Amino acid sequence: MGDETPGAVPYYGPDFTRLMREDPEIASVILDELDRERNGLQLIASENFTSPAVLAALGSTLTNKYAEGYPGRRYYGGCEVVDRAEALAIERARRLFGADHANVQPHSGASANLAAYAALLRPGDTMLAMALPHGGHLTHGSKVNFSGRWFDVVAYGVRRDTELIDYDEVRDLALRHRPKMIICGATAYPRLIDFGAFRGIADEVGAWLLADVAHTIGLMAGGVIPSAVPYADVVTFTTHKALRGPRGGGVLCTAELAAKIDRAVFPFIQGGPLMHVVAAKAVAFGEAMRPGFAEYGKRVVDNAQALADGLAAADMRPVSGGTDTHLALIDLRPVGVSGAEAERRCAAAGITLNRNAIPYDPEPPTVTSGMRVGTPCVTTQGFGPGDLTEVASLVATAVRDPGRAPEVRRRVSELVGVHRVYPSES
Ligand SMILES: Cc1ncc(COP(=O)(O)O)c(C=O)c1O
Repeated sequence: MGDETPGAVPYYGPDFTRLMREDPEIASVILDELDRERNGLQLIASENFTSPAVLAALGSTLTNKYAEGYPGRRYYGGCEVVDRAEALAIERARRLFGADHANVQPHSGASANLAAYAALLRPGDTMLAMALPHGGHLTHGSKVNFSGRWFDVVAYGVRRDTELIDYDEVRDLALRHRPKMIICGATAYPRLIDFGAFRGIADEVGAWLLADVAHTIGLMAGGVIPSAVPYADVVTFTTHKALRGPRGGGVLCTAELAAKIDRAVFPFIQGGPLMHVVAAKAVAFGEAMRPGFAEYGKRVVDNAQALADGLAAADMRPVSGGTDTHLALIDLRPVGVSGAEAERRCAAAGITLNRNAIPYDPEPPTVTSGMRVGTPCVTTQGFGPGDLTEVASLVATAVRDPGRAPEVRRRVSELVGVHRVYPSES
């Protein structure tokens, strides 16, 4: 694609036929992945389908530019154009989330967390965070992650009876261990988090409060669930989950912490920002500011509730009894199938989801007793709650009766044919 045609936009961007000619092996990978995304049901809770506008920004020549530093304060010449992209991304993020300050440079959610720790902690400090087997993230202190190796980690979990965060336990642990930072936010917790309760506990023990809302920031953007921003000192997030932007991370914080966070992202943990991704983040924030995005977020939650209810009706027990968000965690023990086996059986029927530990899971993480399902993808492609009730019964059939996989796959094909991902007219 060039600017040779009279009247064409003076733009140089992705020309797929050229990639097919010049590198057919990679071109076929890209086409096969588009096919996979289009032809199956994508129920991975942390994924979404970005808009064509986001894809256009990602595939732009902004990838060529080195821009270490921040707008107006760069260590390279020629940054006056990309400065505009980052200034827009920052301004839109601040407005969208009502935050004093935004840093849009972290390459991922993990990098955003590393930056937050680098800004506020020193190696050996104590952090209090949700245990990984109860829904926390690797970067919240797992032994196999930098966070578990560099910090003294105390973990809280969910109650055995309610499967909800036990705020009394969080407070007791905080009073006993006096952490320098308390982390709330999770990767497999279907319920709302009481950020006000966490703020109260953090204040009581003089800890920083970090809210890692990698999963739920897209629902907060639409005002569908309460925001962490008014409560947390620092909020970290990803842009590629429910928010529906490019793969990447970000940090929001109070004005008081702005300089510390910026210095932690660059030069402490990263070099040059990915300016094509920063521009794509700006596009996604712009999309999330439109009224339609709040409707999308609400439908994501309605769909997740319909999916959880449908699975419950088929004896696949939603942990905590249901969901308030975009995901449900399902206990498969009542149907006698492991998480790993359920993942395989669903894949054979054209349904992509992931095995997941449930709280107090007797099985190891490679097997698990549960699976996690989410609705950001199917909602983007136009599914509504009625469709999700049917999706639940397809998942249940695939899990319980692997012999019926071909029949489920046929129905999946019909459904994704009606609600097409990336229809050619978009
Ligand atoms: C709560 C939470 N934090 C951080 C991350 C890490 O994000 P990334 O994979 O972009 O590094 C994830 C990813 O799933 C997450 O769920």
